Amino acid sequence: MSNNRVIIFDTTLRDGEQSPGASMTRDEKLRIARQLEKMRVDVIEAGFAIASPGDFAAVKAIADTIKESTVCSLSRALDADIDRAGEALINANSGRIHTFIATSPIHMKYKLQMEPDQVVENAVRAVKRARNLIDDVEFSLEDASRSELDFMCRIIEKVIDAGARTINIPDTVGYAVPQEFGHTITQLLNRIPNADKAIFSVHCHNDLGLAVANSLSALSAGARQVECTINGLGERAGNASLEEIVMALRTRKDVLGLETGIETTQIVPASRLVSSITGFVVQPNKAIVGANAFAHESGIHQDGMLKNRETYEIMTAQDVGWNTNRMVLGKLSGRNAFRARLEELGTSFNSDTELNDAFARFKDLADKKSEIFDEDLIALVSEARVGTGAERFRLSSLKVTSQTGETPVANLVVMVDGVEHQVEGTGSGPVDAALKAIESVAESGSSLQLYSVNAITSGTDSQGEVTVRLEKGGRIVNGLGADTDIIIASAKAYIHALNMLDANIEKAHPQV
Ligand code: KIV
Ligand code: ZN
Repeated sequence: MSNNRVIIFDTTLRDGEQSPGASMTRDEKLRIARQLEKMRVDVIEAGFAIASPGDFAAVKAIADTIKESTVCSLSRALDADIDRAGEALINANSGRIHTFIATSPIHMKYKLQMEPDQVVENAVRAVKRARNLIDDVEFSLEDASRSELDFMCRIIEKVIDAGARTINIPDTVGYAVPQEFGHTITQLLNRIPNADKAIFSVHCHNDLGLAVANSLSALSAGARQVECTINGLGERAGNASLEEIVMALRTRKDVLGLETGIETTQIVPASRLVSSITGFVVQPNKAIVGANAFAHESGIHQDGMLKNRETYEIMTAQDVGWNTNRMVLGKLSGRNAFRARLEELGTSFNSDTELNDAFARFKDLADKKSEIFDEDLIALVSEARVGTGAERFRLSSLKVTSQTGETPVANLVVMVDGVEHQVEGTGSGPVDAALKAIESVAESGSSLQLYSVNAITSGTDSQGEVTVRLEKGGRIVNGLGADTDIIIASAKAYIHALNMLDANIEKAHPQV
């Protein structure tokens, strides 16, 4: 690999998933992993194998399936974590164990309650143990941006000797500023005697909105791997956004002199897939992947664009995958065309039953909507996979009455544990009435944190994609529902969230 090639390490499925409410199922993660592979991401961090049986299964399924990208599992610097990661990666074509320990004075004293020497000892032991399982080992210094330089030099030298091939410098709390962060990388590369034996990586959080700027500064200083997520998904304010880093490197190669192997036309499909699966809507003015990112509204801009596109545009919408491959399906499209298009969009079916079920939903939708776009297909499949067949709550039917000057009333039939319940609710609007009716039978006691509706495509016949975020006892879940009728979409999303709360999946957090 040439010295100006940057390794793109995507952590949407691990750090991105740590965002409250962004939990994904094994199948959803697999769909995203396939899209990341298609986009030619170098390393996919598939999860934190020891966090839960579900996480283990997802990392394993991705490691078993993905062939072109390296598949990585996170693990703390603990024997059990490392062994579990190794187990999940056993069939990987190219696998990596990513182990980490905190190195800042505040984390070592209060969180780990360890002396610095003990931290070094644990780090070295973890790297050696991981190297006994796999060749490709990455070591991260959690909270590096608040760690002492001398201590970082000491621990990094030791873990490289122990066999770490990649050294990751995270700005865990999003505290760094670009000049300082770049300088830290320069210092590490100059001062550590065996620095040339490893690739230096950065992993920036966006608490001050500087994650991308800090990452670029570190790359300019000599880091050659960058950790990032699609749409900047991630804990708190998120991680550095993959699309922004990749397009900045590409668009300003004249200044930065670096390149990636990313197939940029797959960026927008990846963004849409992640947004549809997690329910985290992309803000319209988000760089690269926001709906308005390439929309030129003002007369002066439009005039300039017509004369010469480059007057106001530094990259094209097509470069990042807008409007490419928008093959439209309709009422007369057959099963093969449907399956082929979904495969191109990164989704394959596990069984004929699954394909038939999705195809039946597609036909229903085609009856209501004359043209079906890629976005509709993605939503349709996400929705088909929302149910596992073993849910407590199911929507059988819904009727709402809404009239000017009258209180809206919703009448629903909801199945709870296989028993039919007829419920009625009133509310300030039809959605409110429907959700209140469902809650009257579910009695979940959860609190609603977010309700959002997003039109999947343009036009008044668009499907509405609804996200309902519920919180109960500190657990947060996102329910999703899509339909051309937004009241039905809302009821589906609420019921999906209730089923997720009911599943009560316990999960460990890597940093705890
Ligand atoms: O932000 C962080 O420090 C992390 C590490 C586990 C790499 O996510
Ligand atoms: Zn992180």
